[in-house]
Amino acid sequence: MASSDPSASFYVTTPIYYVNDAPHIGHAYTTIAGDFLTRWHRARGEDVWYLTGVDEHGTKVQRAADGGGVTPQAWVDRLVEAEWLPVLKTVDAANDDFIRTTEARHIAAVQRFWEAVRDNGFVYAAPYEGPYCVGCEEFKFPGDLVDGTGDYEGQQVCPVHGRPAEQLSEDNWFFRLSAFGDQLIAHYEANPDAIQPVSAYNEVMSFLRQGLMDISMSRSSVAWGIPLPWDERQTVYVWFDALLNYVTAVGYGEPEESEAGRQFAQVWPADVHLVGKDILRFHAVFWPAMLMAADLALPRKVFAHGWLLVGGEKMSKTKLTGIAPSQIIDHFGSDAFRYYFLRAIQFGQDGSFSWEDMSARYTAELANGLGNLASRGTAMVNRYCDGLLPAAGEATAAEHALVEQLERVVAVADEAMDRLDFSTAIVEVKGFIDAVNMYVTEQEPWVLAKDEAQQARLHTVLYTICESLRAVAVLYQPLMPKTMSDLWDQLGAAATLGPIAEQRIGDAARWGQLPAGAPVVKGAGLFPRLEEAGA
Ligand code: ME8
Ligand code: MG
Repeated sequence: MASSDPSASFYVTTPIYYVNDAPHIGHAYTTIAGDFLTRWHRARGEDVWYLTGVDEHGTKVQRAADGGGVTPQAWVDRLVEAEWLPVLKTVDAANDDFIRTTEARHIAAVQRFWEAVRDNGFVYAAPYEGPYCVGCEEFKFPGDLVDGTGDYEGQQVCPVHGRPAEQLSEDNWFFRLSAFGDQLIAHYEANPDAIQPVSAYNEVMSFLRQGLMDISMSRSSVAWGIPLPWDERQTVYVWFDALLNYVTAVGYGEPEESEAGRQFAQVWPADVHLVGKDILRFHAVFWPAMLMAADLALPRKVFAHGWLLVGGEKMSKTKLTGIAPSQIIDHFGSDAFRYYFLRAIQFGQDGSFSWEDMSARYTAELANGLGNLASRGTAMVNRYCDGLLPAAGEATAAEHALVEQLERVVAVADEAMDRLDFSTAIVEVKGFIDAVNMYVTEQEPWVLAKDEAQQARLHTVLYTICESLRAVAVLYQPLMPKTMSDLWDQLGAAATLGPIAEQRIGDAARWGQLPAGAPVVKGAGLFPRLEEAGA
């Protein structure tokens, strides 16, 4: 696709995370999901823009800074440098940009946006009286709170944070959210794929059908935020600042002829906003209403994934139940981490992390499955053919079956990726790896090698193993970029077919790409056994 074609840009976002504390694997989960999706679309040959970042304003961050005895700016600067930027390297994210809401580009565009919405008649002054959960940074509506237990018996608490909401009473500016209910319902009825999975779609529709109330877009009691241009005593409500990152990071409000303005025309609207289900309403109700109020196009899809649970509850910074990504990655590596979370949990459902389950899958699927196939294949080419890939002889039914399976796998996986069904895409490729491992067991190349008369057959089997691995490397490269790049080198593919990054999903099943004579190296194991890794 030509990059001048505006429809050619695929724009993926993660939420921008609060920097009240360091990231845990829940944040890494969304980031690796976005990264897998991004790299898959790149491997299709599309132009992709992948944005992530941090949400730095509001009461929650302010209080964390107060608790740490520093200014909020010092607090966020330290955490972003020491924790949030490094974690992107830790999980091997290939994001194109990283937005911070304290950046000038964001602040100016947020102010411009709300001026425009006010000019359009959707902002008015009014008092707010009601509950507010600082954990969620959210004005709570009737029906949002639940009965407390334990210390909070007899009180109404936030269902996510388990604590009572605070009672606010302040003069604010309101956003006329109620004006957009009918338009939102009509939009989602016409575009049922715009919210996924279906459970998320249904939740949003039933919320919309209850009718929308207007909502504060500013806070008079929160100093750590973006001042309203027309009333500097107030700051923009943190969510109505944060949501705008998706447009401020790609040039919203910049002159059409500027580079930033051209980027905005090219990438907006977003193709996928990835979010956890905790923040679905902000993304599927408030955000599109804001965009309508400013005459901007709506995102094509909001996908709400499930929660990583600890003891049956959402892992959270507030509850100090977080596991740092490096705790797992130091042990298993970033590729196994990416593989495990996207393969073991159906995207859209909740899931729990356990060391036992992760170790078991690592050993069975990565070390014994893919890793063993790669080391057997490359070792045999070295042992029997001096490290040069032999030419294949005549194919038999066994080879034809693998080639046909590969064609199906690529089609099914590619279609699953369109639905963000990551685990199906991964399991399809795994099924192919299993079939190739079975093929090796059945063909017994080590027996063929003992018989001169079987040399052509031996060459066919070895070629088939390596050519299968070539396809696997291309298909798994978006998921496990480091290991698949190593495999690519070991197969002699880098030397003969060019960089793995230039390989295309659509071409992955085309059989016979690795040329005879390719230099095959028996490299280090792709997935070291856990004992060797120091388990
Ligand atoms: O909500 N399981 O930031 P946040 C799965 N700043 N995903 C999880 C998770 C868990 N246990 N915990 C966190 C905010 N996440 C706002 C967003 S966007 C304009 C502003 C992931 O630091 C998941 O993506 O609370 C969730 O939606 C997000 O982190 C919330 O991060
Ligand atoms: Mg949160």
